[in-house]
Amino acid sequence: MNFLKLEEMDLEGKKVLVRVDYNVPIKGGMVEDDTRLKATIPTINFLLEKSCKIILMSHLGRPQKLIKKGKTLEEIKKELTLKPVAQDLSEILGIDVGFVNDCVDVELPDNDVVLLENLRFHKEEEKNDSEFAKKLAANADVYVNDAFGACHREHASVSAVTKLLPSCAGFLVEKEVMELSKLLKPEKPFVAIVAGAKADKIGALNALTRKADKILIGGVLANTLLKAKGNDIGSSKFDEETFSVAKEIIKLGGNKLLLPVDSLVADKFDNDAKTKVIGIDKISNGWMNLDIGPETIKNYKDELKDAKTVFWAGPLGVFEMKKFSKGTKEIGEFLGNLKSTIIVGGGDTVAAINNFELADKMTHVSTGGGASLEFIEKDGKLPALIALEEAYNKIKEE
Ligand code: 3PG
Repeated sequence: MNFLKLEEMDLEGKKVLVRVDYNVPIKGGMVEDDTRLKATIPTINFLLEKSCKIILMSHLGRPQKLIKKGKTLEEIKKELTLKPVAQDLSEILGIDVGFVNDCVDVELPDNDVVLLENLRFHKEEEKNDSEFAKKLAANADVYVNDAFGACHREHASVSAVTKLLPSCAGFLVEKEVMELSKLLKPEKPFVAIVAGAKADKIGALNALTRKADKILIGGVLANTLLKAKGNDIGSSKFDEETFSVAKEIIKLGGNKLLLPVDSLVADKFDNDAKTKVIGIDKISNGWMNLDIGPETIKNYKDELKDAKTVFWAGPLGVFEMKKFSKGTKEIGEFLGNLKSTIIVGGGDTVAAINNFELADKMTHVSTGGGASLEFIEKDGKLPALIALEEAYNKIKEE
């Protein structure tokens, strides 16, 4: 897709509104994983060198969903404030990042870098509301999208705002698009590993049945597919909502789709659980599938060894508990030693490879979870990238 890049913009001394994805885990007022913060530093430093005033904006969590569940905005504001992120960013940059208590109708402090409060405290953000976008744009001369993780959303801060200011992609978005585009016309054989606990991968799985030569399945997704095939999965977790789609995927995938043949089952979801390795057709009630078994690890390595391109989305087991981390760790280490293009996407997978210190061995580790999957599903045409392209076309026409 075409969009303007940072180097092509007139930035000297300008006020620049930068959309970042600082939707990061926060516990006890502390940022737990600052990968997404660090990923935006090249763009911030570039703008600082151009003597810009940088106005950062981001979402954190899903406040409007919590409101629907009955929480008050006051409670949510305490829980999902971006204030701890401003502190962490100050430490990373070595300068004082000013924090602003709201994202619209505000006066900005003098700091060179300021971070606005959570965009999603305003319901207009997710509605792609143009009046809200106008308020966001009010203090700026230029707009930069460096929030790859949010590019699959059609929200005001990534879409409507591009109609109001000269708009371009930041270095992170540029890099993500370049790296993930390798998956759109991949060097073959192309093997995808799709696993993890979340059900949101089923759409991408659909696209992968067309693009990939082999798809290796693990995690809750494996349970859902196994159950859809008629297997008894005992007390294993599966996703009821995507159950009918799962049946479709099995048909579409045919023999491209590899499911676990054995499993490490446990009698409870706990590191102290009783465990045993059994054939996948032997899981009985009271036992749950928490990791792929040794036979499956071997099968998956056989498929991966000759792959020229690999896309990995989702840990193969509950890697956070040591007892159930073997599948994810062994496959991760195996990938780390391959010479092929290895692209990793999804928050949990990134956490897993960071945990096993494998990030440096991968070709690209995407900061996007849903965004990296939808990038494949939609052939790169994510709503926020389309918005940047429209802004680019408008400038070229003028
Ligand atoms: C993510 O964590 O994948 C992005 O920040 C997008 O968050 P969302 O799924 O709440 O839009």
